[in-house]
Amino acid sequence: MYPDSRSRRLRRTEALRRQVAETRLHPASFVLPRFVVPGRGVAKPIGSMPGQSQLSVDELLPVVKEAASAGVGGVMLFGIPETKDESGSAAWDPTGPVPEAIRAIKAQVEDMVVWADVCLCEYTSHGHCGVLDGETVDNDRTLPLLARASQVYADAGADVIAPSDMMDGRVAAIRDELDEGGHAELAICAYSAKYASAYYGPFREAAESAPAFGDRRTHQMDPPNVREALVEVSLDLAEGADMVMVKPAGPYLDVISAVRSRVDVPVVAYQVSGEYSMIEAAAANGWVDGERVMMESLTAIARAGAGVTLTYFATRAARSLAGV
Ligand code: PBG
Ligand code: ZN
Repeated sequence: MYPDSRSRRLRRTEALRRQVAETRLHPASFVLPRFVVPGRGVAKPIGSMPGQSQLSVDELLPVVKEAASAGVGGVMLFGIPETKDESGSAAWDPTGPVPEAIRAIKAQVEDMVVWADVCLCEYTSHGHCGVLDGETVDNDRTLPLLARASQVYADAGADVIAPSDMMDGRVAAIRDELDEGGHAELAICAYSAKYASAYYGPFREAAESAPAFGDRRTHQMDPPNVREALVEVSLDLAEGADMVMVKPAGPYLDVISAVRSRVDVPVVAYQVSGEYSMIEAAAANGWVDGERVMMESLTAIARAGAGVTLTYFATRAARSLAGV
């Protein structure tokens, strides 16, 4: 008891605080999401995400090299196709922006884990995550299409296949397809606990994937639920997922923590577009210290139990850790 015990003793200097820190960030655990578009010389700023741009493959490469030299461990690719149709067929075009980007990164950047997001919403004319039956997404008819897209990204050289569609049974469908296609050793990270979140707002502009009508609440998770997240995680692991994701991250730290204590595979968290843009907007107005909020938000996500974090801040946070 006080005065024998004084918690302030270990907080006295920066060196002491650093020594006893319970959570340490490392750039190897960061994954940088990027939006790839067709063409050459394209770097189109995304209005809803200050500092982020849609990039053609030639413009993407230096950005990925920069991330790699800052120590960032991975890059997550989203594609915006030339043309969209009812079934999202551009998602499995082997000459599409994502397969091209995967091949280029694999050829030119060493030691970078390349993640391929798998969903159809960037590729469908209606912006839904799968094929439609009337106004609802047809779960079972969507599965083979997701599997087909996964196979194309695998053939291009992706290291991790990350389905974000939230269809039931997609991990098993993708695992089967990859195994048959000679990719039995390729990892799947399931977006297991992906909530129907308003925090994805800025992403819809970045990926040009806003649904033409309705929303994603019949397949993405309902924000009040955490036990259901554990069910989703168990199902995905049973279907063959190698890692599981919680998304968004900051507003769902309790979910990250619950998943962490339940499973022994890597738990991945996605600090989504809305989390990024809110910090950037407040910082731009001088309302918060953007640098400190960035690091604090990432520390909180790691403290909750995330072993890998997807964040638009990846390169900046890596530089900040290195003191540059
Ligand atoms: C596509 C997808 C979304 C995000 C990742 N994959 C959007 C959505 O589900 O509407 C969101 C990422 C972000 O907001 O940064 N299914
Ligand atoms: Zn989608």
